[in-house]
Amino acid sequence: MTPVPGEILEVDGLSAWYGEARVLTDVNLRVAPGEVVTLVGRNGAGKTTLLRSVMGLHRQVEGSVSWAGQVLGRSSADKRAKAGIGWVPDDRGIYATLSVQENLLLPPITSKADAWSLERVYEQFPVLQERRDFPGTKLSGGEQQMLAIARVLRTGSRLLLLDEPSEGLAPVIVQQIGDIIRQIKDQGVSVLLVEQNVKFAATVADRHYLLAQGRVVESRDNDSFQSRTSELLEYLGM
Ligand SMILES: Nc1ncnc2c1ncn2[C@@H]1O[C@H](COP(=O)(O)OP(=O)(O)OP(=O)(O)O)[C@@H](O)[C@H]1O
Ligand SMILES: [Mg+2]
Repeated sequence: MTPVPGEILEVDGLSAWYGEARVLTDVNLRVAPGEVVTLVGRNGAGKTTLLRSVMGLHRQVEGSVSWAGQVLGRSSADKRAKAGIGWVPDDRGIYATLSVQENLLLPPITSKADAWSLERVYEQFPVLQERRDFPGTKLSGGEQQMLAIARVLRTGSRLLLLDEPSEGLAPVIVQQIGDIIRQIKDQGVSVLLVEQNVKFAATVADRHYLLAQGRVVESRDNDSFQSRTSELLEYLGM
């Protein structure tokens, strides 16, 4: 499936606070249709706050976020989900007492045309089919991550916000997550990916933003990112 023209995420002059503490300052970024873009930065740089602000979950913000030509303004996370933005939190948000299949069936479908059927999910993630009657608690970290990604694809999201999907996973599982992200991209879905694993980021992304102390300090395409990885990481203190 080709990317849909006009499905652009634009973050303009975004600043965010927790009480008096400002944690994001004047962030500008863009994710074009079908693009995979990473947000790289050390602990506490503000990556999760940025994703939560795009999702409408963090509300103490200034600046604007628009998606598919609509300024999101004060709209709720629920409305943003209905507009096609899917959030995969860093803790993966699996319902522990529900089975894999129940986790997949729970969120409402937001776009019938784009929603993945259960069959399609199981074809793409055979391990979830094998484990479909297992409770969330019995899954490995990698399986939980796959379930969290599959769950937003089920709803029909057109933009995925992934918060450190590789964290804590064995290299072979990280590779599988990379394959999944590339397949998602092939479906024309856009991804904004928060990562500290820069080697992994370079295998999946088209472009990268480097975030330090709440500011975007560099923006690079993947080729120039790969050729200067160690220098950029030293600069970020990673
Ligand atoms: N609920 C909160 N209340 C107050 N300060 C917070 C809160 N959540 C985050 N912060 C602070 O905001 C800053 C940015 O945090 P954020 O979680 O966005 O960073 P991050 O880049 O995602 O970090 P990590 O790599 O550890 O996940 C940090 O200084 C953090 O301590
Ligand atoms: Mg974080």
